[in-house]
Amino acid sequence: MHALSQPAAQGLIRLRDYRAPAWRVETVDLDVDLGIDASEVLARLLLRRDPAQDAPLRLDGEGLQLLSIALDGRQLPASAYRYDGSVLEVDGARDGSVLETLVRLRPAANTALEGLYLSGPRESGFLLTQCEAEGFRHITFFPDRPDVLSRYTVTLRADRTRFPVLLAGGNPDGAGELDGGRHWARFVDPHPKPSYLFALVAGHLEVIGRDYVTADGRAVQLKIWAEADAIDRCHYAMDALERAMRWDEQAYGRNYDLDVFHVVATHDFNMGAMENKGLNIFNAKCLLAEPDSTTDDEYRHVEAVVAHEYFHNWSGNRVTCRDWFQLSLKEGLTVFREQSFSADMNSAPLKRIEDVALLRRAQFPEDAGPLAHPVRPAQYSEINNFYTATVYEKGAELVRMLAGALGRDGFRRGMDRYFARNDGRAATLEDFLAALGEANDTDLTPYLAWYAQAGTPRLKAHGRYDAATRTYTLTLAQHMAGVATAEARPPLPIPVKLALFTPHGDMLPLHLDGQTSKPATEQVVVLDRAEQSFVFTNIATVPVPSLLRGFSAPVILECDYTPDELALLLGHDADGFNRWEAGQQLAARAYEDLRDSTAGTALQAWCDALARLFDHAVIDDALLADLLTPPGEIELAERETAIDPQRIHHLRQALQQRLAARLGAAALRQRYAALAAHTNTELDASSQARRRLKRRALELLALLDPAGAGELAAAQYRAAPGMTDRLAALSVLLRGDAPQAAAALRDYRERHAGNALALDKWFAVQAQLPGEPALERVRLLERDAAFTLKNPNRVQSLLGAFVRNNPSGFHRTDGAGYRLLAERLVALDALNPQVAARLATAFNGWQRLEPLRREAARAAIVELAGHHGLSRNLAEIVDSVLN
Ligand code: ARG
Ligand code: ZN
Repeated sequence: MHALSQPAAQGLIRLRDYRAPAWRVETVDLDVDLGIDASEVLARLLLRRDPAQDAPLRLDGEGLQLLSIALDGRQLPASAYRYDGSVLEVDGARDGSVLETLVRLRPAANTALEGLYLSGPRESGFLLTQCEAEGFRHITFFPDRPDVLSRYTVTLRADRTRFPVLLAGGNPDGAGELDGGRHWARFVDPHPKPSYLFALVAGHLEVIGRDYVTADGRAVQLKIWAEADAIDRCHYAMDALERAMRWDEQAYGRNYDLDVFHVVATHDFNMGAMENKGLNIFNAKCLLAEPDSTTDDEYRHVEAVVAHEYFHNWSGNRVTCRDWFQLSLKEGLTVFREQSFSADMNSAPLKRIEDVALLRRAQFPEDAGPLAHPVRPAQYSEINNFYTATVYEKGAELVRMLAGALGRDGFRRGMDRYFARNDGRAATLEDFLAALGEANDTDLTPYLAWYAQAGTPRLKAHGRYDAATRTYTLTLAQHMAGVATAEARPPLPIPVKLALFTPHGDMLPLHLDGQTSKPATEQVVVLDRAEQSFVFTNIATVPVPSLLRGFSAPVILECDYTPDELALLLGHDADGFNRWEAGQQLAARAYEDLRDSTAGTALQAWCDALARLFDHAVIDDALLADLLTPPGEIELAERETAIDPQRIHHLRQALQQRLAARLGAAALRQRYAALAAHTNTELDASSQARRRLKRRALELLALLDPAGAGELAAAQYRAAPGMTDRLAALSVLLRGDAPQAAAALRDYRERHAGNALALDKWFAVQAQLPGEPALERVRLLERDAAFTLKNPNRVQSLLGAFVRNNPSGFHRTDGAGYRLLAERLVALDALNPQVAARLATAFNGWQRLEPLRREAARAAIVELAGHHGLSRNLAEIVDSVLN
């Protein structure tokens, strides 16, 4: 083997080092001979050379077994090429040359689930591929980078009995019989695409179909494929797909562009789903749904992910990314599009609450610790580690700000321009901002700073009322925690949507000084300097500002509200999101009162305001359930240094107990009974809302009357017509340590023994039981016959749920949680580096733990870091976390 002088073979890949490819591939002909143990891939590449560069032909190929290689029809001698296991260098290629390589793959031995692999048992499972980000190089030799767009023709051959279904992206282009019980099928994709969007699927699969006609008149066959035991759970996804396709036509004028659209479900998948052109592949948990095993939250998730992957057909596939630094160009944009879709399909304020809660739970902590990175990172070692909450969720918030700045019509105009100008191209974030801006004669480049800075900005707000002049001056200032100098970072444009309320809860008309347009009761001001004041005139009384309405910018608001002011907003803000937001702020203050044993008024104000809403208000049941839920333990921890997760858990419990006591056991019981009278499994908004509030009422009641709530939960468990009610009851029984818990757990296990997704929830609900005993339970569950490190969903449901969603269980003072994680990471890493690396991010934030735990965590991470042979994926996370 010859050493190559590849600059990027090791170490960091940097955005600033980007160079256009020296070689492109115009057409790809793949001939794949499929087998479980061995598959062979013959690739014929028509090469195009950039005349301005004279680099030799170098192709990516990861651990491939090369069987033969030919250039322009001639077999190459060993002296004419070099392969070091990662890069193939070939001599003598010219513009227009055709390179043919034949490689052998081992799908059944591929536990990393990247490239071509087997899902399910070897006798009955099926073969599939996952290429994003760099999986195609595990399949064949190729310039495996997203700015190389090629037209693909794919021919699959296989034994007909073992692989009756053969699928690849693009339009079907013939199929037939071969000798020896074999058959073939060909697919041609007319749309040039990057290699990460390639996919194939082969095996025993059932299908449901639907005919669809696009707004521009194309007849499309929609097909969802799943294994026999799952196909009946695909109907909801089919409906969701049709809704998503219609929505993209109406909201963005985007039509589907092939004659078929395939969706496939697998139980073995590293991520949620993948938008391969014409052949989306889904983790079963993001696709399958039926009332008996799917919760309401999961139904909405399925709808959202189906839409997300479909929307990628334009935001990602037709317009793709120049390089992986631009990942948020497709992911942030597509998350934003999916959020808008979900808001239209369901309740907009509830969707916003859900998304902001996720941002705070997942992205803010990421942005506050050693794994923080900009939405467009400047460098990486392993790109798979950058499919993060920052790139996805914060990225979506940035698009939301841009959309808000342009307004509904302006954003649509800008998006039309973006799609038109970049169709068939590999674009950058600059291209995106340029198209949006130019279509609206406005300069959006100041927003680029948002893409380049890590960290969550803080927005300080201070209001001053002057009775004499009847003016209200709102002073806004921005700063970044831990960043002293303003020079280091340019100020960000921060759109602040706001309203002013009278002490009676009415909105005031807003006259911004010097502004002529007619006053509205809600307005956006943009803070684009370090500090700025806004003067509102004609204000008759001291107002209460409602700031950052709808979460108009992804910042942490610091405002000197009194508890009464927050209670006023909680009680009166007409916007559901801001009402919730005021409640969250007030609850956090109440929590701090409890924690510091200060005699503050926040606790009383919070409880009183919620009691009023609970007793009297005409308010949506689901929103009420969310209002009755204080910020989670992870969010509360974000406000602290020297974090003690167990103390946080107990304080949050105490906080909820105070709320429950204020509402009263009788009222909670009564509300529960009223809601329980309408039990069903319908998915309409009010049925879902009733189930949500019913669960919340039961959880609060359990804090006052454990035995009574246990009885109700046991009855609810037995009578539950669907998974939402069943899982809620099981969780209440387990958390209350109710005598009925063990029987319910056994019953659930038996009832859902054959359903992997339902079983995942059985593991997860136990892994999330708070406190020290959780660890022993996790160890016990690891020995369960159904547990395996080989299935990412199962790993996530037990270990992921424990280390990520159970702070008081994971963060033990003796460090046993950290050691367990470190040990499992080593074992997992040998099987599946992507999943190991993602799990390892649970160590993020250890520096802010109180000293005892901090030292224990550090010791476990150092030990892990010293382990030989960690994957690049895991090593990058561990090294970053330590520094
Ligand atoms: N593009 C996929 C999505 O829809 C995610 C694929 C991520 N794959 C990976 N190996 N990190 O979000
Ligand atoms: Zn995506």
